[in-house]
Amino acid sequence: MPDGLAAEIRKRIRIAGPMPVAEYMALCLGEPHSGYYMTHDPLGAAGDFITAPEISQMFGELIGIWTASVWRLMDGPSPCRLIELGPGRGTMLRDLWRVTKIVPGLADALMLHLVETSPVLRRIQQETLAQVTPATAWHDTLREVPDGPCLILANEFFDALPVHQAVKQADGWHQRVIERDGDGFRFGLAPAPIPTFERTLPPRLRDAVAGAVFEWRSDRPMIEIGTRVVRHGGAALIIDYGHLESAPGDTFQAVRSHRHCDPLTEPGSLDLTAHVDFAALARAAESCGARIHGPCSQAEFLERLGIETRAEALKANATPAQRGDIDTALERLTSRRTRGMGELFKVMAVSARSLARLPGFDS
Ligand SMILES: C[S@@+](CC[C@H](N)C(=O)[O-])C[C@H]1O[C@@H](n2cnc3c(N)ncnc32)[C@H](O)[C@@H]1O
Repeated sequence: MPDGLAAEIRKRIRIAGPMPVAEYMALCLGEPHSGYYMTHDPLGAAGDFITAPEISQMFGELIGIWTASVWRLMDGPSPCRLIELGPGRGTMLRDLWRVTKIVPGLADALMLHLVETSPVLRRIQQETLAQVTPATAWHDTLREVPDGPCLILANEFFDALPVHQAVKQADGWHQRVIERDGDGFRFGLAPAPIPTFERTLPPRLRDAVAGAVFEWRSDRPMIEIGTRVVRHGGAALIIDYGHLESAPGDTFQAVRSHRHCDPLTEPGSLDLTAHVDFAALARAAESCGARIHGPCSQAEFLERLGIETRAEALKANATPAQRGDIDTALERLTSRRTRGMGELFKVMAVSARSLARLPGFDS
């Protein structure tokens, strides 16, 4: 339970000293007994946050159209592994699957692999998918998924992966750490700067002002994805909130009941995330020879795939109340207002070199 996790974090700090933000985030979200995702279903109106597939069936259906189109561009391999990273309640796959059934040969070719660490969400995924799809395999990591041609989907997966932070000081960049503050926690800085850190940064970040915060994640997940699509053929679609270019900024945040709160309170009870640096993801995937498509905004991506046409088709058979709901969902998914999902969320694909153009992207 969360109190136990606070005690565990205090103990680790007492023994090993202040812990990097990434270690704190990893414990809060994934500690096997008390981590947020280990104990919660956080999704939906009654939970802490809502994701695009939970807003409307249109989202999963359009990802289904993307999946079907790319499978065809791959010359329809059978079997083809359809892998979702962090599938939440399984809603996107459920909606996507309806589309696969209308493309000859596709539903039979796809083998479903869900990479999910949360036992709570795995149970919900099993219920959601039991009636709609054939055999599905669950895995703790992408590494466990057997080789072969693949299509990989990740909606709001990367933002939940642990993020490191460093703060620029007069003598260099210092790792941001979590230290004890009585029974609670506060941010601090490691005493010595990270050696040679500045040289690893993109050039335009090297003259950042004192106090600037830079965030980064491990390249490993992206390298695993890039290597897989290059070696075995296929593509990965990554959708998340974040920025197109690597830039300074503190985006480490906590949400509970759809409201922002202090990320250092009640470890294990809050959803912790940070924005995704799409330029960093692209660099990692390119380093293993993958081709990058986009990134573009979610609004552009969904509009290119035909979300407006899909909304009209759904409205044709809907009640007036349902028509209102469809319009609201369309506006929400594609809103270009400041911090609207259509603009804040970015979409990028990573593929084998042979896939020169993918649907949803203009290049
Ligand atoms: C923000 S939710 C997104 C859920 C879903 N994709 C959606 O759009 O509704 C993050 C998902 O990633 C899973 N997750 C978080 N960290 C993970 C990890 N290291 N490995 C696998 N799954 C993880 C969570 O359990 C959850 O299913």
